[in-house]
Amino acid sequence: MNILEVIEARRTSKVLGNPDTAPKPLGHSRDSIDRLLEVAGNAPFHHPSAHIHHETLSSPVPWRVYKLDGNGCRRLMQALSRQGGHSGKIPAMLAAAEFLLQVSWLPDRITNDTEPVENEELFSGDIRNMEHIAAASAMTQSLLLAATDAGFRTYWSSGGVLRSPEVFKHLGIPADEILLGSVFLCPQDVGDAEVKPGKFHDMRGSLDDWSAWRDMSI
Ligand SMILES: Cc1cc2nc3c(=O)[nH]c(=O)nc-3n(C[C@H](O)[C@H](O)[C@H](O)COP(=O)(O)O)c2cc1C
Repeated sequence: MNILEVIEARRTSKVLGNPDTAPKPLGHSRDSIDRLLEVAGNAPFHHPSAHIHHETLSSPVPWRVYKLDGNGCRRLMQALSRQGGHSGKIPAMLAAAEFLLQVSWLPDRITNDTEPVENEELFSGDIRNMEHIAAASAMTQSLLLAATDAGFRTYWSSGGVLRSPEVFKHLGIPADEILLGSVFLCPQDVGDAEVKPGKFHDMRGSLDDWSAWRDMSI
C-alpha cells in the first residue's frame, strides 16, 4: 500500500476475546513493534517536555510508550482478574491482543502535586500542554498507520481501567504522566473473537462538511 492507501485503510477494530480461553499469542517479535515505534517517533513536537519527566526515560519528546507483548497482555489480564473490581471490556481485549502500547503524554505544568484524583486535575490548560498532546497524538496516529501497514488490526482506546493507578504501578508508568491512549494491536485472524468497528467511523460526512476554502477579498 502507498501512504494514502494506508491512511484510508486505518480503522478501529476492537477485538473481544474470551479471558477464560485466551489463545497463546502468535509471538510477533518485540523488534517488529519497536521498528514501527521508531518510525512513528518521527512525529513533530513543538516543545521539549519538562525535565521532571526525564528521570527514567530521557528523551525530550512529550510522549512515552510502555509496551506489553502478547504474554504481557495475558498476564495483565490475569492481574486485573485477581484484583477484582470492574474492568469492563479490557480483559477481553487483553485476551486477544498481540501487543498493548500504553501511550502517555508529559504535562508541562502540574497544578496539583499531591496524589491525583482525576487526570483532568493533573495539568493546566495552556497552549504548551495543548501542543504536547497534539504531538503525542501525531505520534499515536503514525503508530496506528505503521501498524495498519504491518497487517495489524488497531484500536486506540481511552483505556478504562488501564488508566488506573494500579495499572500504572504494574507497568512502572510514572504517576505524573497522563495516559493519552491504550493502543491494542491484534492479528487479522482472531478466530471466534468478536470484532467491533469504531462507532463513529461512518459519521464523518464528506470533506465539505469539515473543510472550507476561503478566498481573501483584500
Ligand atoms: C483519543 C481517542 C480515544 C478513543 N477511545 C475510545 C474508547 O475508549 N472506546 C471506543 O469504543 N473507541 C474509542 N476511540 C475510537 C473511536 O471510537 C473511533 O476512532 C471512531 O469511532 C471512528 O472510527 P475509526 O477509527 O474506525 O475511523 C478513541 C479514539 C481516539 C482518537
